[in-house]
Parts: sequence; C-alpha cells; structure tokens
Amino acid sequence: MDNYYDEISEGYEELHRDEQLKKLSFIKHKLEEYDLLFTPEDSLLDVGCGSGLTTRFWEFIGCKRTGLDPARKLLEKARSKDLGSHYDLAAAENIPFPNSSFDVVISVTAIQNFHDVEKGLLEMKRVARDFLILTFLKRAENRKVIANLIKKHFRILNCFEEDKDYILFCRP
Ligand SMILES: C[S@@+](CC[C@H](N)C(=O)[O-])C[C@H]1O[C@@H](n2cnc3c(N)ncnc32)[C@H](O)[C@@H]1O
Repeated sequence: MDNYYDEISEGYEELHRDEQLKKLSFIKHKLEEYDLLFTPEDSLLDVGCGSGLTTRFWEFIGCKRTGLDPARKLLEKARSKDLGSHYDLAAAENIPFPNSSFDVVISVTAIQNFHDVEKGLLEMKRVARDFLILTFLKRAENRKVIANLIKKHFRILNCFEEDKDYILFCRP
C-alpha cells in the first residue's frame, strides 16, 4: 500500500473524481441540514488529502485550507491544481502542527489506509479545535476497528451511510 497511491497518482482523479465529489456533495448537504457548515473564518485540515480533490472542494467557503498526505506524487498533483491551499508531506500518525491548530479536520476515505489507525485518529483529535468529518470505506476490512476507535475517542454528533463510505460528524 505504501507506494500504491503514488503509482496511481496520474490517473487518480480520473478514476475517483465522480465518486469522491458525490461524497463531498452529500457531506455539504448534511452540514447545511444540521447548520454545521463552516465559515470563511475557520481553518480546515484535510488528512489524507491525496490529489487535493477533497481540499479544494471547500474553496467556495473561503476558509484557510491545508492538506497533508504521505504520497509525494499525489501531493505534487494537489499543489499544481490548487494554489489557494497549503499542502504538506506527512502522515496522519505524525501531524506536524501544534494542538488545536484547526477549527475543522476532515479525512475522506483515507483512515482505512493508516498504518496505525488509533494513532492517526488521536493525532486528528489533538489538532482539531471544534469539529471533525471522518469517512472510511464501508468495504474496508478494518471498518469495525475504525468504528470502535472513533466511538472510543470522539463525541459523535451524526453518523451517515453513503453509497461507499460511512461518514461521521464528530467533536474532539
Ligand atoms: C482513497 S485516497 C483519498 C484521497 C482524498 N481524500 C480523496 O478523497 O480524493 C486515500 C489517501 O490516503 C492516503 N494515506 C495513506 N496512508 C496514510 C496515512 N498514514 N496518513 C494519511 N494519509 C494516508 C493515501 O496516500 C491516499 O492519498
């Protein structure tokens, strides 16, 4: 898995764009429905941002956006497509930011890939000030482990089942 995302970096968006945009649109509608949509004053961290599809989606809000991912080539794609966000090469297990650095932390379809899911979740909790959006694949082998760890470490506000992902809105 380590180099898998770099290997598919060229075709990643072509392959996954529609599926990921559908998830993001679902998330946006739910945020609006529950009056949780963030504002231009908020700062957002996207953990496992890949090619930046899930980071630049939030451009319409005008909030400060940061993405991080350990796949170098995907990050190059992200940087080339989006000059309005900051992108860092890093893994969820070692987030290079101080505690409570971001109002909102999102992670879309990445948690099932973390080497150490609990460490990654605890790092996201550490840097989140207010709110998290966590999604993971319904077909992931480790989905039960992920669900139990999220229950253990976060206050879950809402849990949704989209076509491909479970989507949770949480407080740290
Ligand atoms: C299916 S892609 C999702 C990318 C993006 N969020 C999207 O929805 O288009 C999964 C991402 O998880 C990243 N990833 C793998 N291990 C990771 C880790 N330990 N920490 C953070 N991201 C990781 C991969 O590099 C890849 O970009």
